[in-house]
Amino acid sequence: MYQVNSIGHKIEIGKKALNKLSAFLKTKDHSKYFILCDENTLKFCLPVLVNHCKILEKAEIIEIESGEASKNIDLCIQVWATLIECNADKNCLFINLGGGVVSDLGGFVASVYKRGIDFINIPTSLLAMADAGIGGKTGIDFAGIKNSIGSIIQPKGVFVFPQFLDTLPQDQFDNGLSEIYKIALISDIAFWKKLASQKGLSGVEEIIYRSIVLKNSIVKKDPFEKNIRRSLNFGHTIGHAIESSLLKTKSELLHGEAVLIGMICESLISMQKKLITKKEFLEILNTLLERFIFLPVQSSYFEAILQALANDKKTNKGVIRCALLNGMGKCKINVSVNLKQVKDSLELYNSFIK
Ligand SMILES: NC(=O)c1ccc[n+]([C@@H]2O[C@H](COP(=O)([O-])OP(=O)(O)OC[C@H]3O[C@@H](n4cnc5c(N)ncnc54)[C@H](O)[C@@H]3O)[C@@H](O)[C@H]2O)c1
Repeated sequence: MYQVNSIGHKIEIGKKALNKLSAFLKTKDHSKYFILCDENTLKFCLPVLVNHCKILEKAEIIEIESGEASKNIDLCIQVWATLIECNADKNCLFINLGGGVVSDLGGFVASVYKRGIDFINIPTSLLAMADAGIGGKTGIDFAGIKNSIGSIIQPKGVFVFPQFLDTLPQDQFDNGLSEIYKIALISDIAFWKKLASQKGLSGVEEIIYRSIVLKNSIVKKDPFEKNIRRSLNFGHTIGHAIESSLLKTKSELLHGEAVLIGMICESLISMQKKLITKKEFLEILNTLLERFIFLPVQSSYFEAILQALANDKKTNKGVIRCALLNGMGKCKINVSVNLKQVKDSLELYNSFIK
């Protein structure tokens, strides 16, 4: 069992995380509990949760449809309407039981309902355990732009129960693993080497813990992303633009898959800017190609990707600013990158995965 101190709350990780949650709930005097879940976490995780925390038997359950398409304002309105109907007051507790879609949407809903009610995260996907459930970023997609509306607000607690992963599909597992590789690559070369040398994945709890420690230490230094927290966006500037370009399509590209493509493109640009050597770039490329499955980015999407980059919240006065690698295990923020370099990197990415 691990415990990490975050901003005004604790992150509990391990087999006893739900017991810790029970104890946490007993110390508070919440008027009501609301649990937000999707159809999968309702089926696989809610019974386990309630079994550990009997007090939650009386919680109101709010179910949303799984998937990125749910991260929208209409769904927020529906959840707020349900809270009003159920007379949710300032003193209730909102519980996000799910992956990053649930915690992003639920955190945002809670952050503005009655000017903010308490919420906690119980992440159930690997991506949410290692990344999305940590750090207080919440949000939804709006006007075709990923995470364009949201808030940065810390949960009252995060309870990571790795056994939830037993029912997570393999592609979703890899989806989460990509963010773990990312945090290792930007902040802890020894952790990166350890991940790269592992064939299977043993010690998933330790890996989640390490990832949380690394992310948390960055978030604590810069909660509102004015500075060093931007390093977490490595792979995401191009990754998010790819996701945004696909939002209105039926694409099933997962967040982590888009980030992996972004990581390859942004590593390539790091090499072109002499921030990493060719040898280092090839190590990154080969490690990722060996571990993950990659799909090409159709050139018909390039224009939409470049357009999405122009709208990216990290773009300042028309200049694209990326967090790039600065040697292995280190990152340099606010590096200017032009759209031609992005387009070239996408073309080269397509040639690498052939
Ligand atoms: N706030 C942040 O800091 C942050 C960081 C990274 C990503 N994100 C966001 O997170 C989202 C992606 O999160 P995600 O990958 O967890 O997606 P997700 O929430 O859609 O979950 C992935 C899938 O796994 C299912 N699932 C979750 N837990 C399960 C379990 N234990 N058993 C069986 N099925 C389970 C879900 O129902 C869903 O179908 C994106 O919207 C991304 O923008 C946010």
